[in-house]
Formats: sequence, structure tokens, C-alpha cells
Amino acid sequence: ASTLGAAAAQSGRYFGTAISAGRLGDSQYTTIASREFNMVTAENEMKIDATEPNRGQFNFTNGDRVYNWAVQNGKRVRGHTLAWHGQQPGWMQSLSGSSLRQAMIDHINGVMSHYKGKIYAWDVVNEAFADGNSGGRRDSNLQRTGNDWIEVAFRTARAADPAAKLCYNDYNIDNWTWAKTQGVYNMVRDFKQRGVPIDCVGLQSHFNGNSPYNSNYRTTISSFAALGVDVQITELDIQGGSPQTYAAVTNDCLAVPRCAGITVWGVRDQDSWLGAGASPLLFNGGNKKPAYDAVLNAL
Ligand code: XIL
Repeated sequence: ASTLGAAAAQSGRYFGTAISAGRLGDSQYTTIASREFNMVTAENEMKIDATEPNRGQFNFTNGDRVYNWAVQNGKRVRGHTLAWHGQQPGWMQSLSGSSLRQAMIDHINGVMSHYKGKIYAWDVVNEAFADGNSGGRRDSNLQRTGNDWIEVAFRTARAADPAAKLCYNDYNIDNWTWAKTQGVYNMVRDFKQRGVPIDCVGLQSHFNGNSPYNSNYRTTISSFAALGVDVQITELDIQGGSPQTYAAVTNDCLAVPRCAGITVWGVRDQDSWLGAGASPLLFNGGNKKPAYDAVLNAL
């Protein structure tokens, strides 16, 4: 196959990208994105601050722009993200306790009902675990509503849209030996044992000097999969853009049947949240980088 999406489809997988609504008028960007990818994640447009800027007043203008572009171009959509400490609107940041808990539930219901039946997988909860050696939860206003906030989010999400796969998504859970990875693994195992609805784990996989790719990544993917969930690589970027590392990530996903697909966090280096200087993606302007060829050959 001659595109990332078609090559991934040969093994029943997808290859996606983050899309930002503000770039949909850039024809170089849309030409590459339309040609190469078959899954789309809105980079910011389905987050809490974008979709519920005032409590109880939902705004899907930009989320729908990304969604409609994706579907009109034959792509599926991952939803990102419903419950997160980041990019909360001011009104939510100021809530706590039972009113915040209810606002989280209402937010999940409001967004998921708008997109009901249209989303391949939702990142229901994003980045809830702490960095460092604790293996425990990150402190946040949501965590302070009670340790059960994550399972409440997943149960709410299942009821709101039974057709969507429900994912837990995080960064720095790629290295199997890290405490954060083990913390998330233990939560997913507990959820599966107790029947809390969860279908997938999203490995963001932002690789850089402080959190480099490690060859135990394949063990991480297969270990999560063995719990009975899909694994999705959800926000891949590699600082420096090493073709060898991009190939290794791709090979590790292909080695595990339940690794469902890979999404890169942007189209061209200039689109990356890390800045073009990091050279983290697969395209430089309109050109395919060596990392692109490495991925395509590995798929
Ligand atoms: C980033 C976006 O790429 C930026 O445009 C925005 O300013 C901040 O958020 N983990 C996530 C993503 O789950 O939502 C983040 O996206 C990158 C880290």
C-alpha cells in the first residue's frame, strides 16, 4: 500500500492523526491528511473548555468542523477527551465536591449524546495518574471528588453511548518498568475484574529525552491487551523524529493483535504542539520524512 492508512488496514488496523479546525483551510495540510490517514482525533476541539464553555451551554461548532471534515473524507473519529484536569473551563476549575462530580457527569452526557453513535472510541478519562514513583493518582479537582471518579466517568459514558469504545488515556505509561504504568495497569485489571466498563487503553506515546522509547514498549502493549482491552497508540510523536524509533513503535503495535491502531499528534512538523524545531512528526512541509518511509515499510 502507498499510504499510511491503507498500509495499516492490511492488518485490520488504522493510522490516524490529530486534526485542528484552524488548519482546515490549509490545502497542503488537508491534502496530506486526507490522503494518508483513516482516523482523526480533534487536537483541542472536543475538550471540555471547547465543548462546554459555560456550564450547561454546549458548543460543538469546532468539534463538528473536525468531525465533518473527517467523515466527509472517509475517516473514523476518536473522541478526545471527556474528563481531565487540563483545559477545563474556568467555571469547572472553580467547582469541587459533589457539584464538580455532577458537572463531570453532565458534561459526559452532553458531549456523548451529541456524538452518539458517531465515535469509534472516546478518551473518557485523560491523564489521571501521577508522574514519579508513587504509582498513584494525580492530585486534581476531579480526584478530590473521590477516588471513584474514574469508574463513575466510565459507567456514565457506557450508558451515554454504548457503541463507542471507552478508553483510559495517559502519557508516560509506555515504559513497562515505570510506576505510573503499573498504576494504570492495576486500575484496568481491577475494572475488568469488577465489571467497570472499559474497552481500551490509550498510550499517548510522546517520546522525548526524559521519556524515551524503550524496547519494553511491546511488553506494555501486550500486558494491557492480556487484560482484555484494546491498546491504541493515541498521540505519537518522537522528538527528533528518529526513523528507527518510529519503525520500532510500529513493529511493536503490529506484534500485538489487540493493538488496534496508531495516531500521530499532528500532520507536519510545523503543526506539532512541540514546535517544528522538535521535528517530531512524519511530514516536513509537503514532504515525507525518513520517519514516514520507516513507518510505511514497517506497516
Ligand atoms: C495539546 C495540544 O496539542 C495543544 O494544541 C494544546 O495547546 C494543549 O494540548 N496530552 C493530551 C493532548 O492528551 O490533549 C495534548 O494536546 C497533548 C498532551
